[in-house]
Amino acid sequence: MTTEELKSIFKQRFGNEGVVYTSPGRVNLIGEHTDYNGGFVFPGAIDKGIYACIRLNGTDKVRAYSIDYNGYSKFGIKEDDKPNEAWARYIFGVCREIQKRGYKVQGFDAVFFGNVPLGAGMSSSAALESTFAFALNDLLNLGIDKFELARIGQSTEHNYCGVKCGIMDQFASIFGKAGHLMRLNCATMEFEYFPFNPKGYKVVLLDTVVKHELASSAYNKRRESCENACAHIAAKHPEVKYLSDATMKMLDEVKNEISAEDYMRAKYVIGEKQRVLDVCDALGKGDYETVGDRMYGTHYGMSKLYEVSCEELDYLNHIAKECGVTGSRVMGGGFGGCTINLVKEELYDRFIATAKEKFAAKFGHEPKVYDVVISDGARRVIS
Ligand code: GLA
Repeated sequence: MTTEELKSIFKQRFGNEGVVYTSPGRVNLIGEHTDYNGGFVFPGAIDKGIYACIRLNGTDKVRAYSIDYNGYSKFGIKEDDKPNEAWARYIFGVCREIQKRGYKVQGFDAVFFGNVPLGAGMSSSAALESTFAFALNDLLNLGIDKFELARIGQSTEHNYCGVKCGIMDQFASIFGKAGHLMRLNCATMEFEYFPFNPKGYKVVLLDTVVKHELASSAYNKRRESCENACAHIAAKHPEVKYLSDATMKMLDEVKNEISAEDYMRAKYVIGEKQRVLDVCDALGKGDYETVGDRMYGTHYGMSKLYEVSCEELDYLNHIAKECGVTGSRVMGGGFGGCTINLVKEELYDRFIATAKEKFAAKFGHEPKVYDVVISDGARRVIS
């Protein structure tokens, strides 16, 4: 769908012209489940996102139409006016979180669609939150800074969607820059743009098209394990604020105080911190072999220690290794979704063909393939 088509659907529904905003999904090269542990992440925005045509309607009601769900929702902006539709909660949550920060929100009409695959680990929900947070800030001239816009999306997940996520997805969706990855220190929110153009390589996502049930409660449980391990370490080492501040030695000191499961989770997080730093260093030297090696390391940790992979993802990772792909790993929260792969150009066609064939033979359907194009973050679409 084009922006013009979106505008014309808006006009048919609401009889007026609206303004179009967009915010993208994201990839993450490395640094997974580190954001809520005060560690580093290394995401970039992609060329797929949510597009919304919006206009203030002079009332205190929101009227929203989702093209993808073919669904309409009308709701207020007070706390007990929560919409029934799950997709509308993201928009409602953004309105509420803006108000909680002391700003005035007004009613509006909106029509939106997305081309970021749902449930694929590319953060379609952060794209939705960021689109509306960015749009309302712009339309209502609220003057909220970009960091706070990202936090508004994150709090929406926490308080209206039941996921105690970190800041990575909303940050990437708001701050994305074409051709650049961002290394964000989630403890301090300091970040740096890194030009990312691995010559001779392609970055490709393979989507299992599988989303396992209970992903959000399992996600929240991982977070609790980390917080528990961190609390035990901090009791002995007060300088440790987040689990990412801890060393393996510190973790071993509390091994007998925490469950074997919490120990494994924490071990993964502490290992992941070093892998991100190694990747940054290697990128600076153009050493993609090391980048790829650490990606495999992350997959192993997410599968065996953090236990957020699944059979389908492990199989895609295995095929990548067999084909000689430089780096491959599960991307995002896990429990289904995509692997991210760093592939030499000359290997690309053979890898994709092999992955499709073998995966389909085992699971009855092919994985979906998405070439990654690193793109700009939230913006108003000028047409
Ligand atoms: C999800 C969350 C992020 C992050 C990743 C894992 O995408 O929304 O905050 O924790 O999982 O790295």
